[in-house]
Amino acid sequence: MCSKNNQNISQLDFLDLLNQNIQHPELQQKFAIDVLIGLSHSPKWLPCKYIYDEQGSHLFGQIMKLPEYYLTNCETEILETHKRKIIDTIGRQKINLVELGAGNGEKTKILLQEMIEKKTQFTLIPIDISHTALETFSKNLKARIPGIHIKGLVSEYFKGLKWLSNQNHCTNVVLFLGSNIGNFEPPEADVFLSSLWNACNDGDYLLIGFDLKKDIRLLLDAYNDSKGITALFNLNLLSRINRELDGNFNLDQFKYYGTYDSFSGAIKSYLISQQKQSVTIDKLSRIFTFKSWESIHTESSYKYLIDDIEELAQKNGFVIIEHFFDSRYYFVDSLWQVQKK
Ligand code: AVJ
Repeated sequence: MCSKNNQNISQLDFLDLLNQNIQHPELQQKFAIDVLIGLSHSPKWLPCKYIYDEQGSHLFGQIMKLPEYYLTNCETEILETHKRKIIDTIGRQKINLVELGAGNGEKTKILLQEMIEKKTQFTLIPIDISHTALETFSKNLKARIPGIHIKGLVSEYFKGLKWLSNQNHCTNVVLFLGSNIGNFEPPEADVFLSSLWNACNDGDYLLIGFDLKKDIRLLLDAYNDSKGITALFNLNLLSRINRELDGNFNLDQFKYYGTYDSFSGAIKSYLISQQKQSVTIDKLSRIFTFKSWESIHTESSYKYLIDDIEELAQKNGFVIIEHFFDSRYYFVDSLWQVQKK
C-alpha cells in the first residue's frame, strides 16, 4: 500500500466515504434535495447517478450483457487485444490502480491478470457510488484472483479523488472505463478532468473509455433494447423515490424515451408522463404536477470524436500516449499521462 498513512484504510476492506446507505440521514437528505431541485425545475430532470442503488446496479449489469449494448463488448475486446501494451506502459513500478465507477469488475479482471503475469505490484482501489456494486466487484475479483488486495471506497468520484490526492507515494493509474465520462455535460467533463489532474501527480496515468460517434441507428438500438431493460433502469429513479422518499409514482404512467440529439452529440433519456397527473412525495411534503406528455430528463450519454478527445486531454493537462480501438472503431480506451512539469 502506498498511502502516506497506512492506518487509513489498510484494516478496512471498504471505506465508506459516501455513507450512501439510506440509514445515513445526510445522504438521504442529499437525495431528497436533488429530487426536490430536479422536479421543481422546468423542464424537470433527475441526476442519473441516483439510478445506481442496489436494483439499478443490478439492472445495469443486465444492460452490459445485452448484444445491442455494444459498448461493453467493444471495451472488452479492446482490453483483451491491447492489455500487454497497456500494462507494459503503465506497470513498470509499484502502482495504485484506482478504478472510478468500478462496476462488476469483469473488464478490470482482464488488466489484472496481465499485471499478475507480469508481476507488477499493485493495490486495487475501486471507487463506486454503490456499496452493493463494490461488494459484487470485490467478490468477483477475489474469487478469480485469490490473494488480491482490494481497498474499496464507497464514494462519489470527487470525494474519492480528494482521498486519492493524499496517496502520493506511488504512481496512480486511474481507470475510468465504460464511457462513464459520457454522463457528464461537456463543462462538467472539463471540471472532472481538471480535478482529476489536480488530484494526481506528474507521470500518473489515466485510461479513459469514450463511446465514439457512429451510425445513429446503432446508438438508438443500444439505448432502446428489445427486452426493455434500459426502460426499467431509468424507471428505477422513480421506484427509488417511491422506496426512499415515500413517493407514489405510478410507474405504468411513465414511459421511457431514449433519443439521439446530433447537435449535442448525446443520447438523451427521458421518462414521459403519459397523462396529466400529480405525484406526492411524502418526505418532501410536496405534490408535483405533470402535464400530459411532460418529460423528466434522466440521463445524457455523450458520444465523442477523436478530435474532441484530443482537445479534452490537451486543455486539461494530459498528454495522450495512445488510443486503443476495437476492430469496428466503435469505442476507444485512450491512455493519457498527467503532465505537471
Ligand atoms: C454507465 C453511463 C456508461 O451512458 O451508456 C446504459 C449508462 N444508460 N444504458 C451509458 C446507461 C443506459 C451508461 N454508462
